Amino acid sequence: MNIVPSIMATKKSAAKNLRSTVTKVYLLTTEALKDSKITHSESIPEWIIERIGDEKEVSILGSEGPIIFKVIDTQSQEDQHYNLIADSNYSIAREALGSLVGSIKKERSKKVEINFFGLDEEMVTGAIVGLELALYRYNEELSHGSITFLDDGKKVKKSIADKALAIAQSINTARHLVNLPANLLNPVTYTNAVKKHFAKSSTMKVVVYDEKKLEKEKCGLILSVGQAAANPPRIVHLKYRPTGAKGKPTAIVGKGITFDSGGLNVKSGAGMGVMKKDMGGSATVMGFATWLENSGVKKKVDIYLALAENAINEHASRPGDIYTSRNGLKVEIGNTDAEGRLALADAMDIAITQKEKPEVLIDFATLTGAAKVSMGDFVTSMFANDDELADKLLRASQANGDLSWRMPLYRPYYKGFKSNFADMNNMSKVKGGSIGAALFLEKFIGDTKWAHFDIFGWTSGFRPSLVQQGGSGQGVETLIGYFKN
Ligand code: BES
Ligand code: ZN
Ligand code: ZN
Repeated sequence: MNIVPSIMATKKSAAKNLRSTVTKVYLLTTEALKDSKITHSESIPEWIIERIGDEKEVSILGSEGPIIFKVIDTQSQEDQHYNLIADSNYSIAREALGSLVGSIKKERSKKVEINFFGLDEEMVTGAIVGLELALYRYNEELSHGSITFLDDGKKVKKSIADKALAIAQSINTARHLVNLPANLLNPVTYTNAVKKHFAKSSTMKVVVYDEKKLEKEKCGLILSVGQAAANPPRIVHLKYRPTGAKGKPTAIVGKGITFDSGGLNVKSGAGMGVMKKDMGGSATVMGFATWLENSGVKKKVDIYLALAENAINEHASRPGDIYTSRNGLKVEIGNTDAEGRLALADAMDIAITQKEKPEVLIDFATLTGAAKVSMGDFVTSMFANDDELADKLLRASQANGDLSWRMPLYRPYYKGFKSNFADMNNMSKVKGGSIGAALFLEKFIGDTKWAHFDIFGWTSGFRPSLVQQGGSGQGVETLIGYFKN
């Protein structure tokens, strides 16, 4: 099982039966088009330049092969929502080049030359990320020519291209993990793949909590979630300790339910259909870890994957069962389908009770159907108990084209979790499902600064760069943006 898809644009062409043509792509800003400096390697008639200006996207046949022009409009920043929901120039460039990949692949040229005009470094990065995202397929070998990037006629600096490819690779890793079906990816195979992935790493150490260690650590909640599955739960701790890192670590936790059947409160057929994606939070943090490993970021980071399968057999947990969490709280099961918060609770408690206590904890989870209802596929519901942290994360999410919107931790709703037999129920009687789930998690973070992202993690064709439908890598760019500055 390969958990990292093969890098595409960086690889020398392994594709066969390509035509000996050169496909040239011109990605330009409106300003660059006006300057008409774009004729350096082709002489393009004036009337075509005019057509490009009018139609924004034009294809012609040049002397060496097809030429595709695309103009990008960088003026679409909306002065609303504190500018937190506007498309950034990075994301505009990402989607612009991503949208051309179908046409580029169709030409099947041996060489592909991508020319940028008028793009700044952020936009060049975005464009290369978009190309790489659009090239990813779950099930396909390399099938395009070698790709070169030129900026204003000069080769794009290797350091810039490499940085962009590292970002794209980490998003694609998250997408690929989500796309892997639950018969291949279960808590045990997932753990082994992660161990193998970082086996030779000098910055990332992998510590595994198997079922025995989870028992010893009194992780009663995550164990209850996985007790009906053939493959027992795991918590995987990735310790990022680059040389020279100082200060308190940041902890990042991901929900990794490799399949969510709902348990005895079984999901409907439609509801269960894509529940292989219920490890999407863990995929996000694993994608991020892939980037972090070689990022040069000089901070301590502790990443936790809370892995379990919510299955059904005679050992399955039942409504009315009471389980004790690692932090001692007794939780009555109101609904076995509210399993994500249980798995996260024990992982979060491990995170905040480490010898090196984290200053900040950020979690990612496909936690509630309610978050999808209110925000749709591409805006994440974000909750935080600290305004400064919330602000920083929202800005990173906007700048990196991975949008989030802050939701309220409205504490009076917590009373919906009242249980007559335990400290709390796992299901709230109060409406506002994603708020309730966040309030449940809040009982497990102590006094740590905390942000929680209730992600959807899946795309059905809404974003041009995500040609392969399925896992979307939601959250990865936000984390990268948060750490790189
Ligand atoms: N994994 C689901 C939430 C989910 C559903 C995310 C669909 C994305 C798409 C989660 O474990 C769940 O089933 N939550 C329940 C909780 C309820 C039983 C309190 C939900 O949201 O309905
Ligand atoms: Zn569930
Ligand atoms: Zn779930």
